[in-house]
Amino acid sequence: MRILVLGSGAREHAIITSLLSENAGHDITAAPGNAGIAADVPVVALDPTNGDVVAGYAIDNEVDLVIIGPEAPLVAGVADKLRTRGIPVFGPGKAAAALEGSKTFAKRVMDEAGVPTGRAARAGTLDEAAAAIDEYGAPYVVKADGLAAGKGVLVTPDRRAALEHAEYWLHHGSVLVEEFLAGQEVSLFLLSDGHNVLPLSPAQDYKRAYDHDEGPNTGGMGAYSPLPWLDEGFVDEVITTVALPTIRQLAQEQKPFIGLLYCGLILTNKGVRVIEFNARFGDPETQVVLPRLITPLSGLLYAAATGGLGELERPEFSREVAVTVVLASEGYPEEPITGRRITGLDKLAEAKGVTVAHAATVADGDGFIATGGRVLSVVALGDTFALAREKAYAALSVIHLEGGQYRTDIAARVS
Ligand code: AMP
Ligand code: GLY
Repeated sequence: MRILVLGSGAREHAIITSLLSENAGHDITAAPGNAGIAADVPVVALDPTNGDVVAGYAIDNEVDLVIIGPEAPLVAGVADKLRTRGIPVFGPGKAAAALEGSKTFAKRVMDEAGVPTGRAARAGTLDEAAAAIDEYGAPYVVKADGLAAGKGVLVTPDRRAALEHAEYWLHHGSVLVEEFLAGQEVSLFLLSDGHNVLPLSPAQDYKRAYDHDEGPNTGGMGAYSPLPWLDEGFVDEVITTVALPTIRQLAQEQKPFIGLLYCGLILTNKGVRVIEFNARFGDPETQVVLPRLITPLSGLLYAAATGGLGELERPEFSREVAVTVVLASEGYPEEPITGRRITGLDKLAEAKGVTVAHAATVADGDGFIATGGRVLSVVALGDTFALAREKAYAALSVIHLEGGQYRTDIAARVS
C-alpha cells in the first residue's frame, strides 16, 4: 500500500515503525516527519494542516491511505478535503474531531448519548467560573474549552490558582469547570469506521511532569501496556457504555467518526467515567500499544477508513508488555530549552527489544539536536514489566541531553 502519514511526533514514528514491521513492502511517506522518521522512510515538507496541499499530494502520488496523526489537521478539516476527493483517510472530519477540539461539544454529545462522565459547567466569564468552582468544591478542575496542546487543564486544591487559570484561558475562549474524579486513569483506543468499533489494548499514561505524579500536567511523560490490574470485562464495558453510544450519536448527527476514538477514562468507585475524548492516537500511549499489536496495522486502519471494520476480528496483541519513557528538554513543559545536542543514540542500535521514537529532533552531522519539549520516547518490550522497565532505563542512561529530564517511576506500580 502507498501510505502517507501526517505528523511529526513520536506517535507518528511509532505508527510508521508498526507499519514497517509488517514487512509488507508498503511505500510509506511522512509529512513533515522528523529526523528519526526520516531515517526510516522518505519525508516531504508539506504543511499537514493544509487540506488542499495534502489532497493534491495524495492524488499526484496515488496514495492509497492517509493516516492523520495529530489533532491540528483533524480540527482544520484535512480529512474532509481528502474524503471529498475519494482518498481513504484514517482520521475524522472536522465536525467529529470537535469531540477533541471542543470540550463543550464532547460533553453535549456524552450527555445526549448517556455516556458516563463527571459533572461540568461551561463558563464564559470569571463570575460564572467562580460560581462553578464553588459549587463543585476542591480539588478544582478547570479546563480550556478548545485545543491547548496539553496545557489547558489545571487540577489544584488552590482556589486562587483555579481562578487564575480560568481567567487566563477566558482570554482565549470559554472554560469548563469540572467535578473532580478520583481513581486510576486508563487510555483506551478504539478504531472506528463510523459505525463499528474495534478496541486496541488499554494503556496508562503519566500526565504529570515529575515522579509521584507531581508537577504540572504535560502531554504525557511515559506509559505502559497492558494494564494487569484491569477487570476482564473492562474493554467490553467501555465499548458498550462509552464508545458505541458516542459513535452512534455522532452518526445520527451526520458527523461520522472515522478514525481513532481515544477514551480517556477514570475508574471511580462508582464506575468508569470519561474525562476526555481525543480524536487521534495518544502520545506516548501509542508507543506502548502498537509494538504489542500482532494484527497488521495497515489492514485495520484501511478497514476503518473504508467502512470495513464490521468484517474484522478484534486485533490481537502479544503477551509481551511494553514500557515507554519520554525524554524531555530542561524546562518542559513551561519553557523548554531547545537547540541542545543529543548523544548516545547510536549505542542503542544493538539493544534488543528497545526502540527510540523521535519527537522533536533534527539531524546534525552524525547526531541530533533537540528542537522541542518532548524530545523522544524510549520504548522497551519484555516478558515482565520489571524487565521492560530495566531495559528502558538502561537505554536512557546511555542517551545524553544536557538538562534532559525524565520520570523514573514509569510502570513502577506494576513492576
Ligand atoms: P485532560 O487533558 O482532560 O485529559 O486532562 C489532563 C489530566 O488532568 C487528566 O489526565 C487527569 O489526570 C486530570 N483530570 C482531568 N479532568 C479531571 C477530572 N475531572 N478529575 C480528576 N482529574 C482530572
Ligand atoms: N497522552 C495524552 C494524549 O495523547 O493526549
